[in-house]
Amino acid sequence: MCGIVCYVGNKQAGPILLEGLRQLEYRGYDSAGLAIQDGNNIECYRSKGKIAALESRLEGLDIKGTVGIAHTRWATHGEPSEKNAHPHTNTDKNVFVIHNGIIENYYFLKKKLKKNGARFRSDTDTEILAHLIGFNYNGDLNDAVRKTMEQVEGTFGLAVIHKNSPDEIVIARRGSPLVIGIGEDGHFAASDVSAMVRYTNKVVHIQDNEIATLTMDNFSISTAQAKPINRKTETVEWGTEDTELDGFPHYMLKEIFEQPDTIKNAIRGRLEQGEGVPKLGGIMPVWDSLKESRHLVIVACGTSYYAGSVGKYVFEKLTEIDVQVELASEFRYRKLNFAPNTFIIALSQSGETADTLAAIREAKRKGARLLGIVNVVGSSISRETEAGVYNHAGPEIGVASTKIFTSQLTILTLMALLLGRYQNLSLTEGVEAIRAIQSLPEQVREVLSQANRIEAIAEKYCRYNNWLFLGRKYNYPVAMEGALKLKEVSYIHAEGYPAGEMKHGPIALINPEMPTVAIVPKDDIYEKMISNISEIKARKGKVIAIVTEGDDKIKELADDVIEIPPTLQFLNPILTVIPCQLLAYYCAGFLNREIDKPRNLAKSVTVE
Ligand code: F6R
Repeated sequence: MCGIVCYVGNKQAGPILLEGLRQLEYRGYDSAGLAIQDGNNIECYRSKGKIAALESRLEGLDIKGTVGIAHTRWATHGEPSEKNAHPHTNTDKNVFVIHNGIIENYYFLKKKLKKNGARFRSDTDTEILAHLIGFNYNGDLNDAVRKTMEQVEGTFGLAVIHKNSPDEIVIARRGSPLVIGIGEDGHFAASDVSAMVRYTNKVVHIQDNEIATLTMDNFSISTAQAKPINRKTETVEWGTEDTELDGFPHYMLKEIFEQPDTIKNAIRGRLEQGEGVPKLGGIMPVWDSLKESRHLVIVACGTSYYAGSVGKYVFEKLTEIDVQVELASEFRYRKLNFAPNTFIIALSQSGETADTLAAIREAKRKGARLLGIVNVVGSSISRETEAGVYNHAGPEIGVASTKIFTSQLTILTLMALLLGRYQNLSLTEGVEAIRAIQSLPEQVREVLSQANRIEAIAEKYCRYNNWLFLGRKYNYPVAMEGALKLKEVSYIHAEGYPAGEMKHGPIALINPEMPTVAIVPKDDIYEKMISNISEIKARKGKVIAIVTEGDDKIKELADDVIEIPPTLQFLNPILTVIPCQLLAYYCAGFLNREIDKPRNLAKSVTVE
């Protein structure tokens, strides 16, 4: 989604802002722009398309100024175009605003502002903010933004500069992330720390309905009611090296290959083999209630939802707890009735997904307790939940989520195992599970070592326009995730299905032009999957099977086979998803897709 980066300091702002924009590219965008204050004037430049287009626009210009704001836009109101790109300005061109989010009462405000003489130049909701701040400005930019916050409904992370307040940037937040960076040569603000991690790892998170003023030497945060806030500085754990490609052609491939390490990071310091009990310090604050709870609801979107769906099966296997998995976008509008002591687990890589945030807020209102499994430290979900576990997977930059899926599965398994051991799970089962979890990083490496073979399979099938992914039980959500990955990055139409549903409809689609990826490791529903594969073959469908090593039976049935090492049944998804990720990646490559930034998609969906 849209990205914000700002700088005020003693260095030239232009190069810093452009570098910040480049770091935000992965979020998905369709236009970009910046505005720089030189002490007397503000110059604004915008272009449609990539940041490279903005850079060539700026080439040869001598842009001076040490205060500036910059933005990547992902269109909501108004088509992607130069006139709709941010920053937006008011009639007198003295206010410049960048904005993430949606102003919901913009239509009403626009009519009112027009009556008062405002001249609109774009189709965006954001432009409202520039005009309102202009009308509200009386020499104090912070105050003008505060008044504007009272007038607008909707969500925003915004940053503003004013010609007559030349040394400062004002930022404000309601529902869209913003973080301040404390550098040696000034202050930064961004929607995402990756935009400033090159310059500083000291950050302060802004919370909803807060406003902050940044100058070269100082920053101050206050509430919408002007009450000052003193917030602790946090240190970001990762650096620029984590945001670099490291020799890989794409972030998606780099992140797929990082999985042995990200799984290790998810279990580091959390496994107590002797007693067969994981240690999860992050959930200890609620442990006394959690260990008595018999109702869990996992809430998430997209890939995180599919990880949660595997988690449900794992909890059912290892604990006595009743687990529901819910799509946050639906859950938030449902009539919610919770049994006493119900815990919600919000699963989110970014910790900023608007639907997931709204869902946990609604659940809290209805009396549920909140836990989070989140990758981005200090993100909204991590702050709004009572307790939780961080993934420590490092930044995920490819728009399509990969490494976070296996990290989430690992943590959900640890949580289930911990609760299970306080219920009916025996010491032997606990120790066996921990041993199997410890082997996962090496086993993932083994699957990755087949990348060349998987690439060859992708080359063979990438021209087919429709694919089916089938799995059962733990691997049914993997089938859904495999189909999601393929459609996201290759634009091939794919459907994921629980294999048992085939006969109830989808089998009508099977013909030689529709390949099926069958996820069929050795488990207790293996024979049922074999029957499904035979039915597909009987209708001349092509089958790519993901199987446990040494499965000769499938080799006779399937057209192509990818092997995974043997593990416990409930851990299979951590291995079976890897070939699905690689198939999607390589198909996208053969089809020349923009793998890290697929069309229409954005990393971190911060609007509804
Ligand atoms: C798919 C993908 C999305 C996200 C979803 C939730 O590859 O990346 O489906 O999984 O938008 O995002 P988080 O986990 O940040 O809440």
